[in-house]
Amino acid sequence: MQGIRFCATGAALPHTSISNEALSQRVDTSDEWIRSRTGITARRIAAEQENLTTLASAAGRLALERAGWDPKSLDLILLATSSPDDLFGSAPRVQAQLGASSAVAFDLTAACSGFLFALITASQYLRTGAMGRALVIGADQLSRWVDWNDRSTCVLFGDGAGAVAIEACGADQDGLLGFRMASDGRKADCLSLRQVASRQELIPGISSQLGGFEPIAMNGQEVYKFAVREVPAVLQELLKSTGTKPEALDWLLLHQANQRILNAVAERLGLPEAKVLSNLAHYGNTSAATIPVMLHEAVQAGLVKPGHLIASSGFGAGLSWGAALWRWSGPTP
Ligand code: ACO
Repeated sequence: MQGIRFCATGAALPHTSISNEALSQRVDTSDEWIRSRTGITARRIAAEQENLTTLASAAGRLALERAGWDPKSLDLILLATSSPDDLFGSAPRVQAQLGASSAVAFDLTAACSGFLFALITASQYLRTGAMGRALVIGADQLSRWVDWNDRSTCVLFGDGAGAVAIEACGADQDGLLGFRMASDGRKADCLSLRQVASRQELIPGISSQLGGFEPIAMNGQEVYKFAVREVPAVLQELLKSTGTKPEALDWLLLHQANQRILNAVAERLGLPEAKVLSNLAHYGNTSAATIPVMLHEAVQAGLVKPGHLIASSGFGAGLSWGAALWRWSGPTP
């Protein structure tokens, strides 16, 4: 079995930023309410010329540049998204924009767990030796699916994309030390972006369903309770199964949903705040993009360095959740 090397990152955020104050022109909310309940101060919203594909491609291109890879050397592009430009898949359009003509490209849908699930999925192709290089992208444009009149959800989300370049390496240099993934579809209604229920009559007596989706619906308190229960539990299982003490971790890299969730998970693991990566104040919850965007910023800022041990967890709609333990390598010299 091959090892997995974590080589480089990229990210792309829309330029347009909406502050809490600005949003309070639209819905009955306040900067104080949003900051104290979530830690969010602003979110980015895709402008007219931006979309899921352009953001994902920009993030992917940067990761390829930082890795020093020819796009044609890629074998796989896995795009985690729940808000594609095309329901048949946006990954092939990203492949075309990157000129990664040898790569197979497809989408993976798992909401805020999407990036973590995609990273683990892509790693399996590398481990077996079936593929050599993969680009894992997490991207979402939830601004197109938020009800901007619903103050209980619209303040939380934003748009963005992040990417990580990984490649197969010798088993002795393996950087993916363990992972866990879980789903509970019985709780799917806690957080959903559902197909509309309307139908159209085709011919007398026969109707078909109309395409289209309802805006995001969420039971915030249930999602909060789920996150602070399952995320520490799955991380603790992962640390135990890999024989890792929490104090050996350099960083905790969680899905950036809410600062209160991040703090609660760190407290349960006994980790100091200084080890918890957080940028959600600026971007809100960008769903599948939060983990790779945060990783990119931390690598760029020199916080995450080659050799650092990172415990990561994604969680959200599905309900779904998971965790992975990895050692950051950086590009090969
Ligand atoms: N501004 C002002 N008041 C608001 C707002 C707002 N934006 N939103 C709700 N309120 C009001 C409510 O109407 C309610 O008023 P009432 O008491 O008069 O009825 C009051 O604030 C309290 O509402 P709660 O929903 O109980 O507020 P809570 O403290 O639970 O905070 C929050 C809500 C922030 C959404 C919290 O439940 C949470 O963070 N949940 C997790 C959500 C999350 O992270 N979702 C994403 C998961 S990841 C993914 O897969 C997308």
